[in-house]
Amino acid sequence: MEALHIIGEEHQSLAAVLHAIRFMLKEVAAGRLSPDLKLFQAMVRYLDAYAEQRHHPKEDRLFNYLSLRSGEGKEALDKLAEQHLAAPQRIAALQHAVDDYVADPARFAEFAQAFEQYADFYRSHMQLEEEVVLPLVRRHLTAEDWAAVNAEFREEMAANDLGDASKADFKAFFSKLVACAPAPLGLGPRPWQD
Ligand SMILES: [Fe+2]
Ligand SMILES: [Fe+2]
Repeated sequence: MEALHIIGEEHQSLAAVLHAIRFMLKEVAAGRLSPDLKLFQAMVRYLDAYAEQRHHPKEDRLFNYLSLRSGEGKEALDKLAEQHLAAPQRIAALQHAVDDYVADPARFAEFAQAFEQYADFYRSHMQLEEEVVLPLVRRHLTAEDWAAVNAEFREEMAANDLGDASKADFKAFFSKLVACAPAPLGLGPRPWQD
């Protein structure tokens, strides 16, 4: 069940990144941390490049096998498909908020609020996937489905991880984040360098 393992790991990383940003925004709001604008910008890029552009398309492939095998969970699948399709608008709103904040530090509260909205959305999105859809996927996919979807995931990973230096590796980004985020969450604060 390689595909499930990959989705699970990506959810964990995504939850950790959202938690880290939320923690930093609270520290900045309380005046205990000076904001690292480059770090916030890098996080928005990461959410776009991985969560929106690479994670959801893999899920669409996996969930597609469920709809081929069973009508169970149809309502949840429809909702998730709609939410996956709305990725460009969702990330554009966050990108806009971080750009406005970088241009004008007085707009911190707006950025923090836009981020809260994004994080709240993700929490319920992942919850629906993990609590409703993934158990059905485990129950209904056949051995052939697993072989096929695992191969599709391997192809996707190989195609995207090779030859695209502009997209820093998922794990490399994550360790860099840990190095820059303030204690007790990370080992920093240290300034983010692109
Ligand atoms: Fe998703
Ligand atoms: Fe997901």
